[in-house]
Amino acid sequence: MDFPVVEVPLIGGRMLIALVGIIHVLISHGCAVGGSFFLVLLEYKSIRERNERLNLVAYRLTRWFFILTTSVGAMTGVGIWFTTNMFSPVGIGSLLRVFFWAWFVEWLVFITEIVLVAVYYLSWRRMSPQKHLRVGIAYILTSLQTMIIIVGILGFQLTSGKWMSTRSFWDGFFNPTYVPQLFSRIALAGILACAFCLLIYAFLRDLRDVRTQFLRFSGAYLLFVSPLYLLATFAYYQVLPERAQAFISVALVTLQLTQYAQWSKIFFVAVVGVMLLTGAVLFLKQRTYGVLSILPILVLTVAVAQFERVREFARKPYVVDGYLYSNGFRKVELPFISDVGASRYATWAWRGLDQKKGDAALGHMLFRLECSTCHTYRGINGIFRKKILAPGEEAALRFLNTYEFSHPYMPPFAGTQSEKEALAYFLGEGATKK
Ligand code: HEC
Repeated sequence: MDFPVVEVPLIGGRMLIALVGIIHVLISHGCAVGGSFFLVLLEYKSIRERNERLNLVAYRLTRWFFILTTSVGAMTGVGIWFTTNMFSPVGIGSLLRVFFWAWFVEWLVFITEIVLVAVYYLSWRRMSPQKHLRVGIAYILTSLQTMIIIVGILGFQLTSGKWMSTRSFWDGFFNPTYVPQLFSRIALAGILACAFCLLIYAFLRDLRDVRTQFLRFSGAYLLFVSPLYLLATFAYYQVLPERAQAFISVALVTLQLTQYAQWSKIFFVAVVGVMLLTGAVLFLKQRTYGVLSILPILVLTVAVAQFERVREFARKPYVVDGYLYSNGFRKVELPFISDVGASRYATWAWRGLDQKKGDAALGHMLFRLECSTCHTYRGINGIFRKKILAPGEEAALRFLNTYEFSHPYMPPFAGTQSEKEALAYFLGEGATKK
């Protein structure tokens, strides 16, 4: 509460985090992690078959992966820190307190990974093939380690498990969704890497002579990895708490379509279906490559965006399961706050508001404090958009009194009765003016 409240017009803070986050997942999974297995495997195949041209394909692909990982990957990685610090400072604070050393080790491992990818790319043909492959294997191992660490932290946010009672680092880290999420992400990384390579290869026109070999390899690779992705992700789904499973359809589409609970599964199976089909066609018939150079990456980009959105949504109303609400209030402190009031501890959320305006200003401040992490005024998930709130203070107050039960993905209101009335006044006014 004693952090600045940043409001992003129209798209809202969550969407900004999502945009940076999705680009980061595509690059960190697809290039940094998945790239390591795909490229090293391709190099291995080219060495075993003494195919110089295929080796050159692996080298030229590695160049792109190297550039993307060290530029876009690093930039968006820092970007995630920046955006999440802006919109969820208390959440980041909790993750730092629980996982301090994990973050530190992640940083060390990440630096090692970057050094290894640089050595892997820059030492191509300057080392004996065996030695070079060994560098490749070290690159695979460190990139897997980055995943092994980060998934512990992401999983903790979704299912805090025994940590809630023990407060032990390891209970938080090896939480109930840890293992299946780890495998799901590793498999996703593997598929993404192949999709990136299919796209980049379309631009390597001078290397078309090994097209059959490269595409057959990619096809076989997709046929092997896609089922693993399917299995791991279903296992992941199975261990999600019921609350999270129930929210998935709200997350995937919107509130209006909650009844289509099966959509998320159908959508996911369709994504894997496209990957398997691409794999089969590339393996059997390399001629249709034109469309297939772009289709997998497009489908996967949509899938990653949805997957991350669903994961973020499924843990609502929490940013750390059962412990910290998305708007930065801790669950245990709510009874205290409903006693003494939320405004007592708010400093930054008042900025620019005239406290003399009474309830209008107090209500606005409370909206910033408690609702603006997820709602804009008239943009995405805008609170004053049509059909969201009925006009008038009374309707708003009715909503505030009941939404904890009707809309369990929103954190309950934190504050005194008179604060609640002030928020209702602000919401009712705004809804009337729309
Ligand atoms: C954790 C994120 C989050 C927070 C914090 C949050 N909301 Fe929401 N709210 C949502 C989501 C998601 C929806 C559903 C949007 C949709 O239909 O797609 C929603 C919907 C609503 C609706 C429309 C309900 C309906 O039935 O159509 C209202 C009104 C609302 N929120 C008010 C508030 C108020 C007031 C606060 C602050 C006290 C708040 N929200 C805090 C996420 C949040």
